[in-house]
Amino acid sequence: MNIVMISPGYPVEMAYFTRGLAAVGATVIGVGDQPPSALPEPARNALAHYEQVNLSDEGAVLTVLHGLGQHASIDQVECLWEPYMILAARIRESFGLPGMTVEQTLPFRDKERMKQKIDTAGIRTPRHASATTVAAVWEAAEQVGYPLIVKPIAGAGSADTYRVDSTEELAEVLPMLRHVPEVSVEEFIDGEEFTYDTVCANGSILFENIMWYRPRPLQMKSHEWISPVSIVLRDLSVPDLQGGRQMGGEVLPALGFRTGFTHMEWYRKADGDAVFGEIGARPPGARAVDLMNYATDGDLFVAWAEAVAHGSLSHPLERKFNCGVVFKRARGVGRITHIEGLDKLLAEYGEHVVLVDLLPIGTPRRDWRATLISDGMIIVRHPELQPVIEMTERIASDVHMYAS
Ligand SMILES: Nc1ncnc2c1ncn2[C@@H]1O[C@H](COP(=O)(O)OP(=O)(O)OP(=O)(O)O)[C@@H](O)[C@H]1O
Ligand SMILES: [Mg+2]
Repeated sequence: MNIVMISPGYPVEMAYFTRGLAAVGATVIGVGDQPPSALPEPARNALAHYEQVNLSDEGAVLTVLHGLGQHASIDQVECLWEPYMILAARIRESFGLPGMTVEQTLPFRDKERMKQKIDTAGIRTPRHASATTVAAVWEAAEQVGYPLIVKPIAGAGSADTYRVDSTEELAEVLPMLRHVPEVSVEEFIDGEEFTYDTVCANGSILFENIMWYRPRPLQMKSHEWISPVSIVLRDLSVPDLQGGRQMGGEVLPALGFRTGFTHMEWYRKADGDAVFGEIGARPPGARAVDLMNYATDGDLFVAWAEAVAHGSLSHPLERKFNCGVVFKRARGVGRITHIEGLDKLLAEYGEHVVLVDLLPIGTPRRDWRATLISDGMIIVRHPELQPVIEMTERIASDVHMYAS
């Protein structure tokens, strides 16, 4: 079976999905922007063939693939990187291959279309309207009411996303959105924020995952002093999570999703109601797949490959741990000079700490606004949730990185 993997080595976790495809017996043909020498090792070793093409030039990609198609059959196209989902769908249509069409992919890329489909299925979304002009934003705000959220219809990483509490604030925010061609205006939903992620095959959920964001992503993104935490939860049977699970089970068929990874976000209001946030036809980023692996002692990269290549998992994945990650942001600008408080907590937590991946002393800081991973991360796990909450809270408050 010959599978084309779009962007097999970028972002870096794609290399592990590429390796997963090869591990389950597929012949993997890579198509990407990177020069072959820049492909991460796991991708390079897994690829039977690689074509470097400008992925934003759809015509060029199709020409290259039709050229390849003269020599080998192309059976399937996979893409787990958001910007090229539509490209992957076009290739499928051009070759008459199974999998998501352009029409099925669009609602995963356009937050307004997405919510319209979800509304039609009777699932609770925030009140919403889209707008392409300043006047339309004012009108949408009028309809939706305050507090509200304004954000790009195709946003990522909370970029250009604002909470707006009044008409005065909206007037202040509008100039900052001038470069965004279309925005979504939404009712602000107060509550806790979770994911609902799956690996599916042929419309069946083979693996499900819920991750709890602490604090909510927009807050993580707004304050540099925050150490963002995400916790993959072991016990999905608790009453508090049923609203989101049930919603996830309804959203997938509403969007006609059948095979692959999904990443949904949902809000749980104080009264317990679940409200839809957004969904991507791809895995969550920021190392969340690694968290799932630590939580199960499994390999979700391979599980995804089994799902898309064979339609089933070779063995079930069992959730054994709650697994939390803390992302750290240094104080100061420049290069990392020292780290405080780490040794004490490592000694205390012992085997529960499964990964420490902080920038080494002397390396330049990363841009915390551009990458959630910031200046590094610490991952902990425990069968019980409370210890993971405590460990992540203390790592967030007591480990300090400094730069100058
Ligand atoms: N209607 C809403 N009510 C409350 N908070 C919201 C709402 N819409 C967005 N937010 C906040 O802004 C964040 C980013 O919004 P959203 O998830 O829609 O965009 P994104 O930039 O695509 O995120 P991602 O990084 O997950 O791709 C959310 O995680 C949430 O904290
Ligand atoms: Mg989001």
